[in-house]
Order: sequence, then C-alpha cells, then structure tokens
Amino acid sequence: MVSQHNTHDDNVMGKAFDARLMRRLMHFLKPYWKMFSVCVLLILVLTGIQTVLPYITKVAIDDFLTLPWAVVTLDSSPSVGKPIALADGRYLIRTNEVPSDMRKTWELSGALSAKRYLFVPQGSAQEAVASRYPQVFTPAPGGSFASEEALRALPAADTIVLRQGAITGVIRLAILFAIALIIRFLFGVGQVYLLQLTGQKVMYDMRRQIFAHVLRLPLSYFDSTPVGRLVTRVTNDVAAINEMFTSMLVNLFRDAFLILAVIGIMFHLEWKVALVILALFPFIILAAFEFRRRVRSAYREVRRQIARLNANLQESISGMRIIQVFVQEMKANERFQKININKYRASMRQLLTFAVFRPLMSFLSSFAVALVIWYGGRNVLQGSLSLGALTAFIQYVRMLFEPILELSQGYNVLQGAMAAAERIFILLDEPEEDRGGGERINNLQGKIEFRHVWFAYNEEDWVLKDVSFTAEPGSSVAIVGPTGSGKTTIIRLLLRMYQIQKGEILLDGVSIDKLDLAFLRSRMAVVLQEVFLFSGDIMENIRLHSDIPEEEAIEAARFANASFVEELPNGYQTEVKERGVTLSVGERQLLSFARAVAFKPQILVLDEATASIDSQTESIVQNSLAKIMENRTSIVIAHRLSTIRKSDKIVVLHNGKIVEQGTHEQLISLDGLYAALHALQFAES
Ligand SMILES: Nc1ncnc2c1ncn2[C@@H]1O[C@H](COP(=O)(O)OP(=O)(O)OP(=O)(O)O)[C@@H](O)[C@H]1O
Ligand SMILES: [Mg+2]
Repeated sequence: MVSQHNTHDDNVMGKAFDARLMRRLMHFLKPYWKMFSVCVLLILVLTGIQTVLPYITKVAIDDFLTLPWAVVTLDSSPSVGKPIALADGRYLIRTNEVPSDMRKTWELSGALSAKRYLFVPQGSAQEAVASRYPQVFTPAPGGSFASEEALRALPAADTIVLRQGAITGVIRLAILFAIALIIRFLFGVGQVYLLQLTGQKVMYDMRRQIFAHVLRLPLSYFDSTPVGRLVTRVTNDVAAINEMFTSMLVNLFRDAFLILAVIGIMFHLEWKVALVILALFPFIILAAFEFRRRVRSAYREVRRQIARLNANLQESISGMRIIQVFVQEMKANERFQKININKYRASMRQLLTFAVFRPLMSFLSSFAVALVIWYGGRNVLQGSLSLGALTAFIQYVRMLFEPILELSQGYNVLQGAMAAAERIFILLDEPEEDRGGGERINNLQGKIEFRHVWFAYNEEDWVLKDVSFTAEPGSSVAIVGPTGSGKTTIIRLLLRMYQIQKGEILLDGVSIDKLDLAFLRSRMAVVLQEVFLFSGDIMENIRLHSDIPEEEAIEAARFANASFVEELPNGYQTEVKERGVTLSVGERQLLSFARAVAFKPQILVLDEATASIDSQTESIVQNSLAKIMENRTSIVIAHRLSTIRKSDKIVVLHNGKIVEQGTHEQLISLDGLYAALHALQFAES
C-alpha cells in the first residue's frame, strides 16, 4: 500500500476563510475557551476605555475650560434654558442649553455675542471677590457677570477663586482620566498575558499531537515526504496558526468593536461631520484592499524564495564534504547566489509595498483630520459644534484608521493560517499504522516463513516476486544476491515496515499482519544497512532509552567487540555528534551491533552488519555472533560469502526472485549463481 503524499505543497495559499478548517482549529482552542473568553472580554473593556478618553477631553473643554454664558439680543425672551433678562432685549444664556440649529440662526443673524461670560450668582462664595471689581463685573438679575477678556486682567489668585467650580471639575476629570489609564494598563497586561498563554498552550498541544502522529505513520510515508517539510509542519505552520489566534482573531474583535464604537460616538457628537468622514471610507477601504492584494502576492513570493534558500543551504551544508572534495565550491556558490538574489528581490518588492502603503495611509488619515478641521472648524465658528467636540473628533479620526489598516493585514495572517492549517490537517489525516491490539505469541519459537510474497514500493513495479522460504526456529538463514536484488526489502517486510501486496509472511505460523506491531518488532533485533546514531552519548545509543541496565549494555558492547569505546577519553559517555560523523563507519557498525545484542531478541536480523569491519575484527565478531545465534533464529545478509558459509540455509536472490536455496555445499554442487559468485570471490582472495 503506497499512499499519495505529494498532493500538498508548501506554497499552497488557499482562501482566507474556510469554515471547515476553522471548526477543526477551534477544537484546539476548546480546552482554553474560558481563558480566551476572558481575554475577549478584557479587550472589549480596553476598547471601551480607549473610546472614552477623547470624550473626557471634550467634556473638560466644553464644560469647564470654556465659559458657558453668552449674550443674545432678541425681541422676546428665548424659549430655551433659563435666560437672565438684561436691559434692551438682551439676555444672558448658557450656550450649551441652546439647541445647535437655534444657535446657528442666532449666530448668522448676529444676535449671539461672540464673547463668553462668567456669571456669579448672588450668595455664592465667589460674590465677595466679584464685588471687589465693580469695573469688571456688571450687575444682573440674581448676580453679576464678566467677560472672558476682562477676567484675564484679574490677579491669578482671584481667578482661581472665581473659577473654583471649573477647577474642581477639571481635577475630577483628570483623576477619572488617570484611573482609566491605570485600568487600561492593568487590563492590558492581563489581556496580553492571557492571550499569549492561550496561544502557547495551543501551540504546545498542536506540536505534541503532530509529533505523536508522525511517530505512528507507516515508514512508507517518509520515503515520499522530505524531512524539511515535516519539520516545517511542526514549527512554522504551528506558529502561523498561533499568530492567527493571538494577533488576528483578537484584533478582529477589537478593531470591529472600535470602528463601530467610534462611528457611533461621532454620529452622537455631530452627524454631519461624521458623514463627511465616512465619505472618505470607500477610498480608505479600496486602498487597504489593494494593499492587501499586493502584499499577499509579494509575501507568497518571499515564502517561496525562503523555502528554496533553506533547502539549498541545508543540502549544501550537509553535503559540504562532497562539495569541497570535488572542488565544487564555485558552482555551489553560483547556485546559492542565484537563489540569494531572488530572495533579495522578493523581499525588496514586499518592503516597497509597505513603504508606499504606510505613508499613503498616514496621508489619508491626515487628510481626514484636515477635513475635520475645515468642516468641523466652520461648524465650531457657526456654533453648531463645540470646541471640545472638535478636539474629540480629531482624536477619533486618527483612531479610526489604525484598525482599518490592521484588518486589512489580518486578512493576510488569516490566509497564511488557513493554508498552514490545511497542511497540518492533511498530515494529521494521513492514516496511522494499524498497530494497536493484535495477537501476541506466548512462548515464541521463532519460525519465519515467507509464502509467495509479492511486493512493490510503487504500484506494479515488483521488487519481490513470488518469494518463498522458511527459517526454522533456531536456524540461521543467509540471503545473498547482487545489489538491488531486494535483500534489504525482505527485512523491511519482516519488520512490517511496508505492507505486502500478495502472499503471506508468517511468524510461528501466524500472519504478521495479525500480530501486535510492538510485539513483533520487540522480538527482533535488527542491524540495518545504514547505521543511524542519535545525538546523545554512546551509552544512550546502545540502550536507546530503554531500561536495559548499564552493565548489560557494556557487556553487549564487549560481546560485539566494540572495545574501541573503552579507549575513548570519555568511554561510554562520549558524545555522539551529528549522526556519528566523528566515528568511523566500522565503529558505527559495531555500535549498532552492540545495540542489537543488548536487546536480547528471539530473532536476530543483520543487514551487512560486518561489511565495514576489517577481516581480523570480523572473525572475532563472527565468533561472538555464532554464540548469540545459538538457539535464536537469525537472518543474515552478507556480500562477503565467507561469513555465511556455515548458515543452515542460503537463499540466493536475483532481480527479486529466489533462484536457488540450500546449504553452502548443496549450492556449490548445484553450480548455479551462488557457485559463480563464490568462485569469483574466492579468486579475489
Ligand atoms: N523506499 C523505496 N522506494 C522505492 N524503491 C525502493 C525503495 N527502497 C528500495 N527500492 C528499490 O527496491 C529494489 C531493491 O532494493 P533493496 O534495498 O532491497 O536491495 P538490496 O538487495 O538490499 O541491495 P544492496 O545489496 O545494495 O543493499 C532496488 O531496485 C531499489 O531501487
Ligand atoms: Mg540492502
């Protein structure tokens, strides 16, 4: 069974929103939904505070910093507020009690004074001060009043007393402002912490789940999937999803709420000015979307170039030995420079897009502010908009642009995350190897039987054709044959690394497909053709983190004749670097041999286990081998025929077919392929 893995590509960039993917992603968020909800709640509170701050300045300016009273000249007493009648049809009136259209009419007809006044009622604490300045204060029914300019001439100490009410009001507003800032700070810290905590936990879970899944994938999967791609799944793609959860999703809430709140407040302050600003919206949105489109294509190109750069670097560095030995530095450098310049160009294009767009947005936002000053300023002068409202408007306009910009960028984040999610789910949906349950054989004898086994890595490209042979319990079977004839494949099938297409492989008469996979593999110790060492020390590489005691591991190493370890300065604690490059190939083989011995298996499988060891060491290893193989079934692959001469049975493989089998003597007398190979090697030595 060969599955199709190559359907996905690292460059996949699908749609920005996919409800099905989103639902699956939400599963990862589910355990932390309470934390996340608190976060969203905090964000709403924070946004609320943010929108209230300009309003506080508005109140400070309109209610306290400007004087409220004006003089209006009318034929009859105005019908609004509580006017104070002066002589000759003039009335003192609080401007904020007059509806804006009425003010506008008064203003246009010249009935309303441009001057503002302070009114000091009779019996108030300020009356005593006011009475000291008869040239400034004009008496009126119920108190006296003074113009703003006239008041400026008074000493500061007296002004403070006169304007006590406004000063207390401003102080109260300042305290309110400060409290709002403190709450914003505290909630802000809490929100960021909770959000990042949620994000990190989600990432942790995702990485754990992906890795656990990868561990259970059939080995055939890894034949067709580059390592780098899987690494990207676990690191970059998970990070892209985290970015969506922590920045984009939360910004979406905040920005949408902020835009709605600001527009609402603007209409409440003065709907006409608000409409003028909204008229700019189509341009802003158009610009934002055009920007998003450009950024997306630039971003895609940058991603592609980074992937190429990484792949090239990884390959060049791991192949540095070959490059230097074959003097290919120039060629490698040329190839790298070509990719490097493409990456540079792609990045520059991306940066240029940003370089134009950010100033453009800032221009549009300043243009909107200019519009507010022009249109709102006229309204202030006409009296239909208060000065405080105008200042608030200017702040709100600035506030409106930031979220629009962020929303347009959020789109890209969302798209990246969706593509990442899609790739991750394709990986997670890759069927796991069926290994659970299954039978275990008590009292395993170790009889192995291949019955008419047909196998192909790809479709009908048969690597093994009708292979049948038996290894009796405790016997040793050798497999020989030319390179590429399928020897290693036989071992892989025995370990159930791949599924056969036809026939049966039996262990003690039970099909290995029916066996518990962990059971099957734990009964066999394998020395594979390519030795793989992990980072860690030599001891760890022999025990592989199992509970084999150290003494047994050392015993196994001695048994395998890996005495070189004891001569190393750090002995068994010597660090193995980069898959063991600091060890010789033969030393690595001896270690993997020790590994197999330490696991004390019922069945021993050796693929070219001694190919890289010198003849003298090999003959010692052969002796140890003979000891281990006693009472154990063993399958041994060897090119050097001298090493398998004493095997109970020799299977000769050619082009995936068994052409001969029997003991050494039988095969020699058969005078076939084995005899020919043997004659050839004998002649050499
Ligand atoms: N993972 C794989 N995917 C596809 N084809 C493969 C794979 N592994 C091996 N093959 C092919 O299967 C055939 C048998 O390979 P195998 O490794 O079993 O040969 P071998 O007898 O062990 O050779 P050698 O003596 O060189 O180790 C070869 O033609 C090889 O190209
Ligand atoms: Mg092989």
